[in-house]
Amino acid sequence: MFNKLKILAAKSAIKYIKNHNIIGIGSGTTISNFIDLLYTEKKNIIGIVSASRSSTKKLQKYNFNIYQINKVKKIGIYFDSADEINHKMQMIKGGGAALTNEKIISSFSDLFICMIDESKYVKNLGILHPVPIEIIPLAEKFIIKQLSYLGAIVKKRINTITEHGNIILDVYNLNLCEPLKIEKYINNIPGVVTVGLFTQRCADIIIIGKHNNTVSIINKKI
Ligand code: 5RP
Repeated sequence: MFNKLKILAAKSAIKYIKNHNIIGIGSGTTISNFIDLLYTEKKNIIGIVSASRSSTKKLQKYNFNIYQINKVKKIGIYFDSADEINHKMQMIKGGGAALTNEKIISSFSDLFICMIDESKYVKNLGILHPVPIEIIPLAEKFIIKQLSYLGAIVKKRINTITEHGNIILDVYNLNLCEPLKIEKYINNIPGVVTVGLFTQRCADIIIIGKHNNTVSIINKKI
């Protein structure tokens, strides 16, 4: 049911692509739909910087040029989804464990377009989803202790090793009234690679697919 709304948002997002651009793309089911549309709409893109092996594999199947991030001067638009996003365009991401690459590529991009189904547009972050954190495995105990000072409840994600060889902790029960503070606090813990709070590199445009078959577009830059 939600996939229909993700496709709706992706169809609207694709219109932002100008020919001969280099774009960045994230990971997950919304992005998988987006890649299908890139192919069927025959967008003439120079190349794509991809945030995950699964996205890369699908893009290669469609013969898109994949660029390593270190080989490009700039990325025009980054397309991705989120687990949750609020009216300040702050997000929780990392449900698919690709948060580190997603944070790097989105931070390198001029514009971040976030495509979501309407269930993901929330008043307060962290009520429905935990905050994922990618960590160096040997720091696990230490980091869980540091997180306990925030009142957090931590679950190690099972059977998950990231593309960087690290593990994911899913962190519940955080007080996210001031998510920027929490992002900074967690970023500062030794052994943390990336926290899935995106409050410094927020989205610039949110495209929301809705049950009534329409899309809403929220543009921070207007
Ligand atoms: C992956 C992500 C995804 O954008 C997020 O989990 C949403 O995924 P989906 O499009 O499958 O709902 O952050 O790390």
